[in-house]
Amino acid sequence: MSTRRKRSSSRRWLDEHFQDEYVKRAQREGFRSRAVYKLDEINRKYGLIKPGSIVVDLGAAPGSWSQYCVSRVRPDGQVVALDRLAMQPLSGVTWLQGDFREQAMLDELLAVLAGHPVDLVLSDMAPNTSGIKAVDQPQAMDLAELAVDFAQRCLRPGGDVLVKVFQGEGFDKLLKTLRADFGKVCVCKPSASRARSPELYLLARNYAHR
Ligand SMILES: C[S@@+](CC[C@H](N)C(=O)[O-])C[C@H]1O[C@@H](n2cnc3c(N)ncnc32)[C@H](O)[C@@H]1O
Repeated sequence: MSTRRKRSSSRRWLDEHFQDEYVKRAQREGFRSRAVYKLDEINRKYGLIKPGSIVVDLGAAPGSWSQYCVSRVRPDGQVVALDRLAMQPLSGVTWLQGDFREQAMLDELLAVLAGHPVDLVLSDMAPNTSGIKAVDQPQAMDLAELAVDFAQRCLRPGGDVLVKVFQGEGFDKLLKTLRADFGKVCVCKPSASRARSPELYLLARNYAHR
């Protein structure tokens, strides 16, 4: 893409961003990202986040989902957040920085959990998209599959996972995996998720260990 075209598309993105109702609302309500309203819509409908829950938030930066969760799991719950980017600390959130695809990061997360079964795994992880579907789709599905593997390993029986996926290759296979191990699986497209984005969220509830 030429520099001039790149500049005009980033200007368009900025204009759209500052006009966006969810961006304005997040600023008003003190959330770090408009993404919080995706989780809020799903949580209002399904009642996922409860006082006392242990929640793992994968792909957590800048931190709006963790902000949302920490106030709902208090006083006895725990939120463990992970991202490869740095995140400003949040009171009540245990924060880990690193690439979730790396074994060392998984080991660190497991060490923090210290064998406590997890009630809810959230994954809003998304690759830096190139706009080339053949590149973006496998990367997005890889992250979603890793989040589901982690959920299968750490959830308590009856626990839930909410994972961002891109529609396309690999989606049906992941849906099938979730349907085999969970009592109920729903496909969610919250209103705050832009219509042009291929993202969807899979919510799998009531984990049954095989
Ligand atoms: C859409 S943002 C998450 C927004 C977040 N839910 C919030 O409410 O603020 C996606 C995040 O996934 C993270 N991510 C992507 N790949 C990752 C990886 N391999 N390991 C850890 N984090 C990753 C990105 O760094 C980015 O911060």
